[in-house]
Amino acid sequence: MSIEQTLTDSERLADLDLDRLRRLVGLVEYDSAADPFPVTGWDAVAWAVGNATQAAQLFQGVYGMEQVAYSGPETGNRDHHAYVLRSGAIRFELRGAVDPASPIADHHRAHGDGVVDIALEVPDVDRCIDHARAQGATVLAAPHDVTDEHGTVRTAAIAAYGDTRHTLVDRSRYTGPYLPGYVARGSSVPPGPRLFEALDHVVGNVELGRMDSWVDFYHRIMGFTNMAEFVGDDIATEYSALMSKVVASGNHRVKFPLNEPSPGRKRSQIDEFLDFYGGPGAQHLALATGDILDTVDVLRARGVQFLPTPDAYYDDPDLRSRIGEVRVPISELRSRGILVDRDEDGYLLQIFTAPLGDRPTVFFEFIERHGSLGFGKGNFKALFEAIEREQSRRGNF
Ligand SMILES: [Fe+2]
Repeated sequence: MSIEQTLTDSERLADLDLDRLRRLVGLVEYDSAADPFPVTGWDAVAWAVGNATQAAQLFQGVYGMEQVAYSGPETGNRDHHAYVLRSGAIRFELRGAVDPASPIADHHRAHGDGVVDIALEVPDVDRCIDHARAQGATVLAAPHDVTDEHGTVRTAAIAAYGDTRHTLVDRSRYTGPYLPGYVARGSSVPPGPRLFEALDHVVGNVELGRMDSWVDFYHRIMGFTNMAEFVGDDIATEYSALMSKVVASGNHRVKFPLNEPSPGRKRSQIDEFLDFYGGPGAQHLALATGDILDTVDVLRARGVQFLPTPDAYYDDPDLRSRIGEVRVPISELRSRGILVDRDEDGYLLQIFTAPLGDRPTVFFEFIERHGSLGFGKGNFKALFEAIEREQSRRGNF
């Protein structure tokens, strides 16, 4: 059995098939037998937030996610609340401290709301950890079984950039709502239409001069491959710049662009993130949707703030020659501030939200792919100009 034929547990639950996933997030065939660290796909993204109880309401009521599981004082977890939400194949776990001595409270004090764990579903936890350990990874949790009445999960964890970790999960022998210790809990807000289907990529911001060592980490320890490379002028504006490289799991389910600041005349958005997050961390999560216009309309009506796109972006005489024909008139994109980019494989539509929390750190991207396997390289300059206008307004530029 080769891994590209395997759906993750959450993809199966979302009724996604490989064709639909290929359109949503781009997949490639590959030989998992030759992969020292085979990854099936995303398992969950765990967040530490200042108020998980309210965040769970927000993510349901605004972002249209469905609540599926819970852990907290009522279930014997006296340390924190954890709400597990889904949208399509995406699973978020929102953790908030109950006990003032909880490590989640410390994490929140240091970083504000943010991503603590990008958990991956793997077919063989022990094989991954044996390889990672031999390559010098920091193993935060050795492979072990966790069991409840729904079965057994085998899991382990390795350290990634900053205080971020990758938990590895083999849930092939488990049928419960999430993980042992969590109970099924349905939505507390009436469910609406699903606004996004799958996680496309998670961007990590790392310190100046550390991008290549993190690219090497994903190559050497996790068997990831290079996907695309954007360096220097491609994404420089007059005032600031960044360097970015993208690594992906063998099947391209899991894609990690890694950014580092590049010296500019003024402070870059990566510097601002590093200052306010207190070090490296997950900068944005790209959520794949089949209809970005509808997604943006619903979210805007619910009060979500998106980064403004300069009108000049749509008036650019080169825009048409750069993007060619797309599925809707440019006026439909302009009225919503949606960006468009094209490469040799097709095009993509994308838009970025304002930071989700109080600190100017983590945010969402919504992305609708039409063949393009890129990340919107042609839009970086437009995006950066938009972000820098926001930074100026906050006085951090
Ligand atoms: Fe992105």
